[in-house]
Amino acid sequence: MSRSPTNQEDTVLTKPTDTHTAARPFGDARDLFDMSGRVAVVTGGTRGLGLVMVHAFASAGADVVVVSRKADACDEVAATLCAVGVRAAGYACHMGRWGELEPLVDGVYRDFGRIDVLVNNAGISPRYDRLTDVTEELFDKVIAVNLKGPFRLAALVGERMVADGGGAIINVSSTGAVRPTSDIVPYAAAKAGVNAMTVGLAHAFGPTVRVNAVMPGPFLTTISHAWDMETFRERARTFPLRRAGASDEIAGAVLYLASDASTYTTGSVLTVDGGAQWSMAGTGEGSPSPSLEVDSSPR
Ligand SMILES: NC(=O)c1ccc[n+]([C@@H]2O[C@H](COP(=O)([O-])OP(=O)(O)OC[C@H]3O[C@@H](n4cnc5c(N)ncnc54)[C@H](OP(=O)(O)O)[C@@H]3O)[C@@H](O)[C@H]2O)c1
Repeated sequence: MSRSPTNQEDTVLTKPTDTHTAARPFGDARDLFDMSGRVAVVTGGTRGLGLVMVHAFASAGADVVVVSRKADACDEVAATLCAVGVRAAGYACHMGRWGELEPLVDGVYRDFGRIDVLVNNAGISPRYDRLTDVTEELFDKVIAVNLKGPFRLAALVGERMVADGGGAIINVSSTGAVRPTSDIVPYAAAKAGVNAMTVGLAHAFGPTVRVNAVMPGPFLTTISHAWDMETFRERARTFPLRRAGASDEIAGAVLYLASDASTYTTGSVLTVDGGAQWSMAGTGEGSPSPSLEVDSSPR
């Protein structure tokens, strides 16, 4: 079902000939993004960026699997899609719990028969006032949900995708990974791990399965409810696009990485941040200051 780049192996192994270098006839560009007959799994698909991804994949023709901790929320999103003729289902699963991931994968394969696209999107970025307020429990939870669970899920699904002959895995990172600030240290470390993991998994599952990451900057989702908007607006003035992203602005990037539009892209980290990573301080993820102790009062 998923097209993999393996049929183009000879472009690597033989001397280039006219067959390789001549422009191939190009059909309809929309076919590149057609996901008809494919099954896409989105963790954290009940709200925010994940909900946009779910709708984007469905509108491109895919069957969609919605995962989050809350069964009701997953079922509600799936029911909305089923009502308009999309094949969809919800599965409750805690991404930070290693033992819940294999039953999730088994359940999806039992019900849908295959997975063509996995988006490791679920993530948490809990706030704290001082670094010493970060408990071992909080640290472990941030690492578990943002890094450990995505690794385990990608390992389980990637292996089966290889056996099935193709697929695409997309990990959702954060510009915090490359512009960490003092208020998101465990989260930034976890997301830096996600970027590294993406490259390692691309090696592990290539050439059959592609593994990429999307690296969002500041988007207005439930995560942004914790931001001091006054401070954020001030910081956003230094972003090339001068604003936060609207959640539907993630759709193009994930459709690209999930579809045949990106058959020669793997191990890449695609930044979608309005240029925020190039602004002066930190990630632009609402972070108030690069100091060691975070003062959440407006500056
Ligand atoms: N928004 C931003 O500015 C921004 C910036 C950079 C990166 N990101 C990344 O983008 C991704 C999506 O963020 P968002 O802003 O869309 O977040 P969001 O609006 O808070 O939504 C998070 C989603 O993840 C689910 N979730 C949370 N904890 C989970 C767990 N332990 N197991 C399974 N599902 C869980 C939530 O559903 P339940 O509550 O039902 O579990 C929800 O569907 C995250 O990885 C985040 O780190 C976001």
